[in-house]
Amino acid sequence: MVKLADGARLAGVSSGTASRVINGTGDVAPARVEAVERAVRDLDYRPNMVARSLRRQRSQTLGFVVPDVTNPFFSELALSVEITAARRGFSVILGNSENSSRSETTYLQNLVDRQGDGLAVVPVDATGALPRSVRATPTVILDRDIAAAEVDFVGADHEDGARQMVEYLVSLEHLVIGCITTERGVVTADERHAGYAGVAGPHFEEAGLGAQEYVWRGTFSFGSGTAGAAHLLQQTPRSKAIFASNDQQAIGAMRYCIDAGVLVPGDISIAEYDDIPLAPFVDPRLTTVSQPIRQIGNQAVAWLLDRTELACRRPRRSQRQRTHLELRESCGPPPKA
Ligand code: RIB
Repeated sequence: MVKLADGARLAGVSSGTASRVINGTGDVAPARVEAVERAVRDLDYRPNMVARSLRRQRSQTLGFVVPDVTNPFFSELALSVEITAARRGFSVILGNSENSSRSETTYLQNLVDRQGDGLAVVPVDATGALPRSVRATPTVILDRDIAAAEVDFVGADHEDGARQMVEYLVSLEHLVIGCITTERGVVTADERHAGYAGVAGPHFEEAGLGAQEYVWRGTFSFGSGTAGAAHLLQQTPRSKAIFASNDQQAIGAMRYCIDAGVLVPGDISIAEYDDIPLAPFVDPRLTTVSQPIRQIGNQAVAWLLDRTELACRRPRRSQRQRTHLELRESCGPPPKA
């Protein structure tokens, strides 16, 4: 393995001078800097990052833990975090908690044990206050806010996004609007359900439908979308529009409709939330609440590096970024009676 001393010898300088050039510390004459850079390039010298992190007590590494890396929303968010961190000279170790708070805690602790300079996390659920062992490490929460965690938060305004979408379905003159969501405790699903209920509740009361719930609770999964659509289309009165709380639920609901010979949007409108890259490519293209996924990742990393690089000690910051409706082909007016 090529050592720094080999580069120093080739450049005709001392090892101390070569080290100052490689680490950007100390004042070195430009000609010597150029000689060292040329030598390490010619020898393909790679600094020992483990030794460097021990010396600097910094690893230039961030950890990012998400609930389900197979979900395109999280992979899109992870890409944004990784690109933004790389621009600032940081690597990212991605952890998949598999929707388990216990795995999430283990991942966070392991990242701290490996000298991670900062942590980013999308919490599995609202109970996941950060483990005590990681509280000394700068941390940012993305997407699902847990105020009790007392760290920076960046996410979308989920309740407002859901409200906008259900108001749109009401404007199409849909009467019974069902909702597919998750079991209580998943912060983003609960916030979206609040946005749905805030519009649908008065709408149902005004229509004389009473306080009946048109809600199916499962998980953020294709299977829950299929099961939810089956329930909402078979209960009385039948739903004529469905608001799904994420893309996978919406795609699962569409699968049910195709298999049951129910036309979308002819017989039922399906609206959803997230707007992953796949959403405009399914048939019909999905009408959705579009989350600013890239912007959320950018802002989260910027705030995290404030605290790791600049030792920023300001109080907790929280940012809710606006969503917008992407009106595509999966929603239309209710079928004529
Ligand atoms: O699809 C996964 C969902 O969980 C997304 O809506 C995202 O907001 C996350 O909370």
